[in-house]
Amino acid sequence: MKRVLKWIVRIVLLLLVVAFLFVFVAYWRSTNDYEKQTTAPANPMKAIVYRDYGVSNLKFQDVEKPTPTDDQILVRIHAASVNPLDWHYVEGTPYIMRMGVGLRKPKEIRLGVDFAGTVEAVGKNVTQFKPGDDVFGGRDGAFAEYVCVRADRAVTLKPASVTFEQAASIPIAAVTALQALRDKAKVRPGQKVLINGASGGVGTFAVQIAKSFGAEVTGVCSGRNVDLVRSIGADHVIDYTKEDFTKGKQQYDAIIDNVANHSLGEYRQVLKPNGVYVMIGGGGANEQGLIGIMARPVEAMVVSKFVSQKMGMMLADLNKKDLAVLGDLIQTGKVTPVIDRRYKLNEVPDAIRYLEEGHARGKVIINLE
Ligand SMILES: NC(=O)c1ccc[n+]([C@@H]2O[C@H](COP(=O)([O-])OP(=O)(O)OC[C@H]3O[C@@H](n4cnc5c(N)ncnc54)[C@H](OP(=O)(O)O)[C@@H]3O)[C@@H](O)[C@H]2O)c1
Repeated sequence: MKRVLKWIVRIVLLLLVVAFLFVFVAYWRSTNDYEKQTTAPANPMKAIVYRDYGVSNLKFQDVEKPTPTDDQILVRIHAASVNPLDWHYVEGTPYIMRMGVGLRKPKEIRLGVDFAGTVEAVGKNVTQFKPGDDVFGGRDGAFAEYVCVRADRAVTLKPASVTFEQAASIPIAAVTALQALRDKAKVRPGQKVLINGASGGVGTFAVQIAKSFGAEVTGVCSGRNVDLVRSIGADHVIDYTKEDFTKGKQQYDAIIDNVANHSLGEYRQVLKPNGVYVMIGGGGANEQGLIGIMARPVEAMVVSKFVSQKMGMMLADLNKKDLAVLGDLIQTGKVTPVIDRRYKLNEVPDAIRYLEEGHARGKVIINLE
């Protein structure tokens, strides 16, 4: 018996050493394309790039202008917008995400997703777009003068009455809000919906989209944003610096949570017996650590099995159809993007630092015009 135990301990130790060596080698081999760019681009465009994690490593420089493949369109970007996703990539936090995006250095050196602009060229298989079309959508590397995107992916025509800045504010934030309310919470007219974090990028869209679905909306934000959240249609606004909504008497059919600053037990107190809790995100830039809030979705999944309420996390799916739905909501005046600050392309690091403070009021725009 003793010998068996000894061998088990030896094997476990060996496996630990192998795992450590594997991570060690993977860490030092982790690299990116930045070093490979030894010559000046033949056909340059300006873009934001980063060779190492950290906002201070963001650079505004010339890179090669992309050429569309047969299935892609080349878009000249007029406006982009910043999301917490961008600072997650730049900081490489929570650290566990580095397993996918690069252990020591970011695998991808380009940043940004949300864009709006004008089609400059199309690949030979593209029939849905033509040069001169104004479009908006989501594609990695959007903090640049140009981006190439497959015509069948998350890109659609921009309604004429929607500005480029408004269109650029839509993709991640508005699609998330729409899918949380429509697909996860399945909000119906007359239902009571609470939006925690109602004044940020996702929250300002969520308040308006919930209202457009006929819900009675309560927004939670700090005192300085109470008027803003009321002005975009919230029926009730709770200032979190004065009142904790989880201690209130009101119960909700749905809670859309952009902050994750209460326990699931606390949310359940104010959720109706058949209510739905949708976790979208949370945790500030300085609070990410090893796994950030990633334990929360697992906890919600487990809790959901034992209670009558539905609790879970959602991950937005950027797609053409929902971009068009949102373009329409804005064109018809049911939703108006709230734009907080505007920065130029070379000021992306400042824009990201601002978003990292965690108190943006609506969307932060990068204006390239
Ligand atoms: N799951 C997904 O697919 C998905 C998609 C998009 C975003 N997200 C995540 O969702 C979260 C929100 O994104 P966002 O774009 O809306 O971020 P954001 O624009 O940075 O918004 C931050 C907002 O949070 C509010 N806030 C901070 N502390 C609060 C508190 N204690 N109670 C209520 N509100 C508070 C701030 O309002 P005050 O200034 O009034 O404090 C601010 O308006 C982020 O964690 C993001 O990573 C997830």
